[in-house]
This record gives sequence, C-alpha cells and structure tokens, in this order.
Amino acid sequence: VRVKTPRTITSFPHRNAVVIYNYLTKSAVTCSPAGVYWLTVAPEWKSVDQIADEHTHFDPRDVADQIQMFLDANVLLQEGTPQADQEEAYSKSWELGPTAALLHFATLDNRFESLSESKKGQERRALSDASPMLFLRNPTDAIVLPHPKHDDEHALIGIMSKRRTNRDVHEHPVSLQELSECLFSGLGITGFIDNGHSLLPLKMTPSGGCRNPYEAFVWARNISGLAPGFYHYSALEHNLAPLPNRKNVCANDLLGGQDWAEQMPAIIFLVAEIKRTTWKYNDPNAYRVVLIEAGHIAQNMMLACTQNGLTACPTAALAHSEISQLCNLDGISQTPIYALAIGRPKNYAEKIHPIEYANQRIF
Ligand SMILES: Cc1cc2nc3c(=O)[nH]c(=O)nc-3n(C[C@H](O)[C@H](O)[C@H](O)COP(=O)(O)O)c2cc1C
Repeated sequence: VRVKTPRTITSFPHRNAVVIYNYLTKSAVTCSPAGVYWLTVAPEWKSVDQIADEHTHFDPRDVADQIQMFLDANVLLQEGTPQADQEEAYSKSWELGPTAALLHFATLDNRFESLSESKKGQERRALSDASPMLFLRNPTDAIVLPHPKHDDEHALIGIMSKRRTNRDVHEHPVSLQELSECLFSGLGITGFIDNGHSLLPLKMTPSGGCRNPYEAFVWARNISGLAPGFYHYSALEHNLAPLPNRKNVCANDLLGGQDWAEQMPAIIFLVAEIKRTTWKYNDPNAYRVVLIEAGHIAQNMMLACTQNGLTACPTAALAHSEISQLCNLDGISQTPIYALAIGRPKNYAEKIHPIEYANQRIF
C-alpha cells in the first residue's frame, strides 16, 4: 500500500488536540499534536514499509496503525483509490490555491434547511437577537432624487420592477422562444473584441478579463417543442445539444430538497468553467470574480423571463455532485454555481406592500 498526504487538508486547534480536515473529501479526524507528524512523512507516494524503515525508533506496528487511522479518516490518500484520483484531478486543474479551495469544496453538496426549519430558526434567533435593520437611512435633509421613469420609452425599469421569485407556478409549458430569449440574455454573444492575441466574446453581461466562464445546462421538463431532458446551450451557436438521458432525476433533490422545484417546467444550471478565468487570473480573488459573474448572468435571464411574463426562481442550494454527473462535468474546475427554475407564475401581487417615495407611489 502506498500512501500520500493530499494537498487538500487543513487543520484547526481543538482543545488540546488538532482537527485535520480534508476539504475535498469533506472528512475530518481529531488527533494529538504529535500525531500530525505522520501527515508530513509522505509528501509523495510512499509505502507504509518505507515510512516504517525511515522511523526505526518507532515500532512498525504503531507506524502502520497511525497511517491506517489517517487512511480510514480520508485525510491520507491511498494509491489507486477514487479519493487519490480526485486529488490528482484537483492538483492538475485547481489554480486558485487552498483558501478559495477550502470555501469552494467545503460548501459543495451541503444539506440545506427546509422552509419550516429555516422559519423556526429565524423565530428562535429573533427571541434573543433581533435581525439587523435591512436599510440604512439618511438624515432628513438628504438630497431628494427625481423619480425613475418607467413608461413605454423607459421600459427597462418597469420590467425590472416586475421581476419576482414566485415559486407557485401554473402547469403551462414554457415556449422554446421564451427559453431562447432567457438563454440569450444571459449568455448570448453579441460580438467579439480583438485583444491583440485572440478574439474575446462580448456578451450582455460584464466579465473579468472578458473571459466569461459560464455555460448553461437546461433541464427541459415542460417546454413546448422540446423533448424533456438535459441539454447544453452553446452560446456561440445559440443552440441546444441533448445530453444522455438519465432516469429517476428528481427536481427537488437537485435543488436542495425544495419541493416547489418539482412543478417547474424548466431549470437552468449555470456552470462555471473556472479555468477560463484562472488561465488569466490565478489569485484567490478570481474566485470572487467567478461568483459575481453568475449574478450578472442570472439577473439578465430573470429579466428576460419577466418580460415574457415568466418567473425565474434563483437558487444556490444545489446538489453539486449529482448535477455535475448529469451535465458530464469534472466536478473540479467545471462546477455548478447557480440555478434558475422557470415557470408561468400564479399571481401574488396582493402579498406585496407598496412603497411611497416622497409620499408618491412609483409602481
Ligand atoms: C444567491 C441567491 C440564492 C437564493 N437561493 C434561494 C433558494 O435556495 N431557495 C429559494 O426559494 N429562493 C432563493 N433565492 C430567492 C430569494 O429568496 C428571493 O430573491 C427573495 O425572497 C426576494 O424575492 P424576489 O426575488 O421576488 O425579490 C435566492 C436568491 C439569491 C439572490
């Protein structure tokens, strides 16, 4: 058996001990400070016998036990295992260093609270700790701004004002035209710019280095004129290619156990091809850039949906590994970040309290 220390471990002090955490496998073990030493003995593949030979002052059975304890806890790697393959893929393609990796990998495939758990949690918290104010106010002598226009000539703000996350939708299908406009608004290419080395795609959303890392995958569930299944959207060609059909996919499982997802006619997954960005920027801040861009893209898609009378419900509560499998992603540098569930909303305008600016309603 040959073993190696993965590059994906970090440690935390805990009382008199040390917690070793492997953020790629999301496994942890507590050991003594002295025990940490055994994580330093195999920076490259080594047999347990070789490690024992290098430590003649230790009983070889104790060495083997220590190593086995770390192997069992998945904080040491054993050659030829799926964990070793995963770590090799990570070493080859993750370019943002361990700090961004810790955040990224440790937050994949998490369990999410249900709506009722979340409600109870907030009620409990409010008993001892009031929510912070959701607004910062200005003094009363602040400069009054003119009201935004949203008539036919200034339609954009009118459309923006109608965007809502409405998880209650009719059974009606979404049309192919509506899906097309949604995808194009988020990722469609409007031209190219020559940076002296290559042509970079220009889109309706900004992108760090003009290297937009996002791809969209569509789960068509009830789209008129499109067979149900998973598709990849090519922004360059503005077309959809079907992916192999898998059975027994459950929308609420893919979207963090959210029941409302089940009735949605279309779900769009925004997947980051992180290498596009890290090819140019390989500092951890590039990870922020990648995440920020998902927001830009999704907002455009949501507004295109709003214009067509659709709701687009955003969610970051994803079953990342399952989505990666369905979309044929490597799960390391190709990673699902955000999803939009699209449908024709039932009305819920009566739930909204109007706001007045300077004693005047705008919408
Ligand atoms: C990054 C992000 C993640 C979100 N995740 C979820 C989610 O997992 N489930 C959900 O029901 N809504 C989710 N939402 C939607 C918000 O709950 C919703 O935007 C909020 O209630 C305000 O409603 P509005 O979108 O109609 O303005 C998310 C929104 C954002 C921006």
